[in-house]
Amino acid sequence: MSLLIKSGLIITTAGNYKGDIYVENEKISAIGVNLSPQFLSSAEEVIDAEGKYILPGVIDPHTHISMPFMGTCAQDNYESGTIAAACGGVTTLIDFALQQKGETIKQSHDRKHSIAIGKVAIDYSLHSGITDLNPHVLNEVEDAILNYGTPSIKLFMTYSFRVNDEVILQMLTKAKHTGGLIQVHAENYYIIEYMNKMLEAQGKLSPIYHAKSRPNLAELDAVSRLIKFVELTDSNVYVVHLSTREGLEEIGAARKRGLEIYAETCPQYLILTEEKYEEPDWGGAKYVMSPPLRTKESNDSLWRGIKRRNIQTIGSDHCPFDFKGRKDMFGKDDYKKIPNGVPGIETILPLIYSEGVRKGKITINEMVSVLSSNTARIFGLTDKGDIDPGKDADIVIFDPEQKFTISANKLHMNVDYSPYEGIEVTGMPWMVFNRGKKVAKWNKDKVDFIGKAGDGKFIKRRPSKI
Ligand code: URP
Ligand code: ZN
Ligand code: ZN
Repeated sequence: MSLLIKSGLIITTAGNYKGDIYVENEKISAIGVNLSPQFLSSAEEVIDAEGKYILPGVIDPHTHISMPFMGTCAQDNYESGTIAAACGGVTTLIDFALQQKGETIKQSHDRKHSIAIGKVAIDYSLHSGITDLNPHVLNEVEDAILNYGTPSIKLFMTYSFRVNDEVILQMLTKAKHTGGLIQVHAENYYIIEYMNKMLEAQGKLSPIYHAKSRPNLAELDAVSRLIKFVELTDSNVYVVHLSTREGLEEIGAARKRGLEIYAETCPQYLILTEEKYEEPDWGGAKYVMSPPLRTKESNDSLWRGIKRRNIQTIGSDHCPFDFKGRKDMFGKDDYKKIPNGVPGIETILPLIYSEGVRKGKITINEMVSVLSSNTARIFGLTDKGDIDPGKDADIVIFDPEQKFTISANKLHMNVDYSPYEGIEVTGMPWMVFNRGKKVAKWNKDKVDFIGKAGDGKFIKRRPSKI
């Protein structure tokens, strides 16, 4: 399949220029100011992208597809989740293969691959999630980093499947010697437990107390301790879903001292605030995620963190549970039982463009860095992340003027609500390509999936540094 995309504004991390792109055999094979005469005759399809932006496909580094959690299961499977991703301009996702007790890393990967292959509509990769470090698994870490194509490993400092400080130190050391990257969910479990008990004794159990039970200090403490572990082991680390000004300042100070600390945030921590937990009729349950929503002060600070390059990536932390029947019923009468997580893979690009770029918080080039280019570099997706000759033809033709009011019934995620319901965005994917194949297209008032489930593939990654 060959394709000529004419006259779009090509957006890179360094600047923008108008040009033509020729795609052949799944790759961007040429880019030029006027390629048309040369390639017009050989192209099987010619697309006029005048007035549109050409963005690298979004790489979402943080998803929970079909993950068993809190007595239920994240609702998107690899088919529905990747179809939604494609419609949102995401062309690669890196999902968590969370080790179940007693499993090897390989077994946890195989469990995920067995439900992904033949179903994925876009490309995918896996991070290992280690919850039960035994001598066999510690030995296997090197294989995961060097041979399985999965050089990143997540650890949790909270939840029942958290690991202790010694495991974090062991894993940081192991990753350092093999070129891997440890990712950490940084919240202090004991602060949360203490707050939970105190709030319970006072009968404070509605969704707002989910936020109160996980104060900014719980993130600050965990981030701060993690940084000390990195210092002690002379290693590096990637903090997932950073939500607070305090945590960010700690990371900024560490980076200033020369430590290699990477940080990811999510649209929810940039755009939404904790007032959402006060929605009537237990509606606040829709926003229960960990860490919780914060205040505008943290939102603003995180946007500045992107500009100052203390935050390198944005992920969706896509982990959807219906409001009706799940978030409202499981957690009825007690915020602690509400399954943690929100849907977001389909809205990440429109939200960051509309709320971030259009509102002047970040530039479009910074957006491309945090949604694609940095993510590819940090996670070793060497063929992805930029519009450059030789890279995979993962391309979003983006209409910067297209308006869309976010509404679950116009989205493809397998969930009955969006935390952004009713927000009008300006700027939507117009056409989306994964390795040169057209997977999604704007149609009247929404994006339609026009690809084929099963056409995506597992991408082996290499240990890499930004
Ligand atoms: O609430 C969240 N974030 N759910 C998914 C699991 C996690 O901590 O990333
Ligand atoms: Zn987490
Ligand atoms: Zn997550």
